[in-house]
Amino acid sequence: MKKNPRYSIIRHAKLAESARVHDQVNLFGCKIGKNTKIDAFVYIEEDVVIGDNCKIRPFVFIPTGVTIEDYVFIAPNVTFTNDKYPRTDGNWKLLKTRVKKHASIGAGSVINPGVTIGENALIGAGSTVTRDIPDNAIAMGNPARAVSYRRSLEEKP
Ligand SMILES: CC(C)(COP(=O)(O)OP(=O)(O)OC[C@H]1O[C@@H](n2cnc3c(N)ncnc32)[C@H](O)[C@@H]1OP(=O)(O)O)[C@@H](O)C(=O)NCCC(=O)NCCS
Repeated sequence: MKKNPRYSIIRHAKLAESARVHDQVNLFGCKIGKNTKIDAFVYIEEDVVIGDNCKIRPFVFIPTGVTIEDYVFIAPNVTFTNDKYPRTDGNWKLLKTRVKKHASIGAGSVINPGVTIGENALIGAGSTVTRDIPDNAIAMGNPARAVSYRRSLEEKP
């Protein structure tokens, strides 16, 4: 890990030694895996787990309840969410989100709470994901829908 990223707040986070964390990040109580890169201006909340060999590009927000498996690419300005009916007062219900291994999420996408993005799926830039996305799907739009499928990890040479 880069020692003492500048202008950053990192509290109670478990970062693999080989994780690369750039300046100006906020990391609270999360777990970051081996060789994963966290770019500048990323904000990650408590109990988020990010696997090995991921790339989290600048200006990404990842709240509590999100799990990201290995080899996942999160493009700039992706916003995850965890509360379907947000308000300032009263109780709220945490909905968990999972991004399975080798998935990629295009720039500026919004991930509604409680969805699973399938293994090796690709989410087009600017999408809003409101439902689960199947493994290997290329999905795009608002709401995001699968428009095609790419070769599965097993089929890849
Ligand atoms: C989704 C994606 C993979 C599709 O790529 P593609 O299969 O080569 O598709 P094309 O560019 O040929 O476009 C096919 C159609 O889908 C539309 N389309 C492409 N990307 C779209 C998107 N993100 N959202 C909505 N529609 C999209 C195109 O307008 C086109 O429609 P048309 O036929 O009516 O003109 C790609 O456009 C994309 O969004 N990639 C993510 C980019 C990104 O965020 N990278 C992050 C690293 S910086």
